[in-house]
Amino acid sequence: MNDHERDDDANRLTRRHYVAGAGAAVAVGLAGCSDDPEGDIGATETEGDSGGGSGGDTEDGSGGDAEEGDLEIVHWWTAGGEQDAYQALLDGFREEYPDVEIVDNPAPGGAGSAIDAVIQNRVLDGDPPSTFQIWPGQALTPYTDEDLLEDIGDSVWTDEMEEAYLGDIVDLARPAGNLVAVPINIHRLNNLFYNVEVVESANVDPTDINDPQQLADALQTVADETDATPLAHQTQSPWSSLQLWESIFIGMQGVDAYRTFIDGDVSSLETEVRNALELLNTYSEFFPEDAGSISWDQGNSALIEGDAAFIHQGDWAAGQYRAADGFEFGEGWDMVAFPGTTSVYQSVIDSFVFPTNNPSPEATEKFLSYAGSVDAQARFNPVKGSIPPRTDVPTDDFGPFLSRQIEDFNNSNTQPPSIAHGTSVAPSVHSSLEEAFANFNGNGDVDEAYQAIANSF
Ligand code: BGC
Repeated sequence: MNDHERDDDANRLTRRHYVAGAGAAVAVGLAGCSDDPEGDIGATETEGDSGGGSGGDTEDGSGGDAEEGDLEIVHWWTAGGEQDAYQALLDGFREEYPDVEIVDNPAPGGAGSAIDAVIQNRVLDGDPPSTFQIWPGQALTPYTDEDLLEDIGDSVWTDEMEEAYLGDIVDLARPAGNLVAVPINIHRLNNLFYNVEVVESANVDPTDINDPQQLADALQTVADETDATPLAHQTQSPWSSLQLWESIFIGMQGVDAYRTFIDGDVSSLETEVRNALELLNTYSEFFPEDAGSISWDQGNSALIEGDAAFIHQGDWAAGQYRAADGFEFGEGWDMVAFPGTTSVYQSVIDSFVFPTNNPSPEATEKFLSYAGSVDAQARFNPVKGSIPPRTDVPTDDFGPFLSRQIEDFNNSNTQPPSIAHGTSVAPSVHSSLEEAFANFNGNGDVDEAYQAIANSF
């Protein structure tokens, strides 16, 4: 399905509320947002995904013509195969609750780079949407600190639902004790995807790359032997470099050191942090020339087209391969765990919440209950490229790639949460690290980046 067809699809589903437009994300600054003295709330980085502008009222999540009782959903799933997964979720919801009017209101931008500012302003102003996409864990805390999320421990989280979920994931949905979120998926972050034909033509065997340094050698070989971009990385928005740094760090130092880092003890890891930055600098020699102006899914498209060899991304990238015609797992593309991280399943999770002052309590409760159901997770995850957090979802139709991911998840020693995807560090730390990596993308200055990272905690 190409972007236009996808847009048409979304258009059909949301015609009542659709306003055509260019699909660029907007940056909304939070200066003067008085309830946010520590700057926890807010981010100004935005990255327009190539598939953005797929539907919704205003294309920036800022509200619009939702009427009282309508289910307004703000999310950032507009790129790659994300939109198909989101539509699969809505299709299932509509089958079960045909009476609920849905107002789809995306805030496009990879890794939620445009959603925070919009949502936080609206929630603080007492004008929230019915629900919105958010990482569980630390990302929820600015809202739970201010009591801005309903306790859904009785209304949505039945005993049956709680028992069916992986326990660690349930815990992420209650950072302050009460259950406030419904996780819907588990992505893996530490993947190295590749175009099979391109790496073969360079005579590189990704299964032989054993550590992050060897990956630099493989990228050099691709550069020497082919015309393809070795690593289809984007630097328009800092999150992809931050997540790549996380994988390099874990690949070089292991998960215990990573956990020490996210606990804020950076100074005991100075050399290790710097070494991972140095290697990221080396990788950057192999980024696309236009890395600074593309989105993650545009980088991934280059891999699909055979113009790039590798990409480091969460397995949402696999959702995009699924949506591409004739690009099959094992033949067109494949994936190895990021070198040095084979036994690790670094997790990225999405959830939906029930903001207080809710414009549609009944519809919101229905949607959250549905998001936590077997049916929702069976429809959504195979298209999204993720695996379900419920343990009782039939996965026979998840295909060979996700079946392998499920096996890897079950065999993994540890599933540490990501920094770049908000679960593991407080939002203030997250934004400050993003700023450090935005600067590092621009100047490659290891000393400056190290100081900025150390000062983030
Ligand atoms: C989200 C994914 C999404 C990815 C790229 C991550 O933070 O958890 O659902 O596909 O960002 O936008």
